[in-house]
Amino acid sequence: MLKKIVMATNNANKLRESGEILAPLGIEVISQRDAGADIEPEENGTTFAENAMIKAKAVYDIVKIPVIADDSGLCVNALDGRPGVYSARYAPKGEECAKLIEEMKDVPDEKRGASFQCVIAYVDDNSCFTVNGGCIGKIGYEEKGTNGFGYDPVFVCGDRTMAEMSAEEKNKLSHRGAALRALYEMLSKKG
Ligand code: IMP
Repeated sequence: MLKKIVMATNNANKLRESGEILAPLGIEVISQRDAGADIEPEENGTTFAENAMIKAKAVYDIVKIPVIADDSGLCVNALDGRPGVYSARYAPKGEECAKLIEEMKDVPDEKRGASFQCVIAYVDDNSCFTVNGGCIGKIGYEEKGTNGFGYDPVFVCGDRTMAEMSAEEKNKLSHRGAALRALYEMLSKKG
């Protein structure tokens, strides 16, 4: 089983969470920058899986050691799955929660369901595959909590938003946690 993996991301939060989730499983995650790949590939796919694979392959072509990439986002039922793959581009950074609360202001309680989705792509010398993870919750009426990033302050999971949870609690429940544990299962079978 491999011990070190490069993560194709320039997002410090994804990198931190992935490191926290994989470290107890014995895998060290290093950033693409530390591995010598200072690139930002264009994410022009139409699905999480396509975008994750674009990022993983682009970084693998440079570093030539096992790479993972995360493509993820928030799918809101009342918005027909938006912002979905466009979650990072829905609003300027730091304004995404306020914009979503405004867009959802007339949506009643029972129609506020949403899910976080995460696809992890894995690429090495002789294999490439994707795994998925999801987390079901609903969209709150106001921002709550200061932990996490992105839509965490408006994503209610159980009785709290993800931004009100500790990193450990979020990682147990999150889409990223589920996807990375599925990755670990796949790698365990691969040997
Ligand atoms: P991308 O995968 O780089 O295209 O961007 C994913 C975007 O989805 C992030 O910029 C966040 O806005 C959102 N997102 C993904 N995962 C999370 C999460 O764990 N918490 C909050 N927002 C997330």
